[in-house]
Amino acid sequence: MKVIWNNEIVDRSQVRIDPEDRGYQFGDGIYEVIRAYNGTFFCLEEHLDRFYSSASKIEMNVPYTPAELKHLVNRLLDETGIQTGNLYLQLTRGVSSPRNHMYPDAGVLPMLTGTMTAVDRDAAKMEAGIPTIVTDDIRWLKCDIKMISLLGNIMVKHEAHKHNAEEAILHRDGIVTECSSSNLAIVKNGEILTHPDGNLILPGITKLVWIRCAKALGYPVREVPFSLDDLYEAEEVFCSSTTIEVMPVSRIGDHVLFDKVPGKVTRALQNAYLEEIEQQCGLLTV
Ligand SMILES: Cc1ncc(COP(=O)(O)O)c(C=O)c1O
Repeated sequence: MKVIWNNEIVDRSQVRIDPEDRGYQFGDGIYEVIRAYNGTFFCLEEHLDRFYSSASKIEMNVPYTPAELKHLVNRLLDETGIQTGNLYLQLTRGVSSPRNHMYPDAGVLPMLTGTMTAVDRDAAKMEAGIPTIVTDDIRWLKCDIKMISLLGNIMVKHEAHKHNAEEAILHRDGIVTECSSSNLAIVKNGEILTHPDGNLILPGITKLVWIRCAKALGYPVREVPFSLDDLYEAEEVFCSSTTIEVMPVSRIGDHVLFDKVPGKVTRALQNAYLEEIEQQCGLLTV
């Protein structure tokens, strides 16, 4: 399996990670997930912009230009031959030896890795929706950084799994923020509501695209905090991410939304999102 390792494409077996790499020691690093369809990356520019933005928020220098990164990820896509799948691109702050919390000196080179996996679109799931639970947002206060320290997200995802659900809807003192690995939106009184960007959520690229679609379709969108009551009273609920696209929610705990899934607005956004993909990446068969 071919992977990115720093500025090269190598066989996975050649990669060596130092046990004192700060990613491994402290979770000190950032990442991006970029989806390819028909052998072309979708929203590559937006994802790379967020990659640089996450790096700058933790004062980490990306030792490659956007053009170099673009070239590298496209080479990986070509060499793996994957048509539809997910790229995980990760940058850690490099090796601190001996172990030390302080950021290392400027001379320490951050370590880049990138892996690509073939994953088809799950059209059946996009039709059926996913069951969710509601739980406390136990994460830190810089959720806008796409960082590799994901323990808070992992723990709430596991909580969801224990309740036979696929996603955890998170709230802080009754205000819904997002999900463990996706953004969340509701349709209430004909309006689409979703938490505003800021330090409490990840500024999702999929969200960016569906908001653009919603506005073009004439749906009112408000990026405002909304409550758990709003969530339970919503006509439609959906989450969004690079890997699941626009995904209807079919159940929130014991609250069943089956008769409305996918709701009219969610369906329209799914279709518009698909059109965006096809404009950038060509016609899809699944
Ligand atoms: C916590 C969280 N929020 C939102 C998202 C959605 O972001 P994007 O649409 O850029 O994939 C993700 C994606 O992994 C995420 O982990």
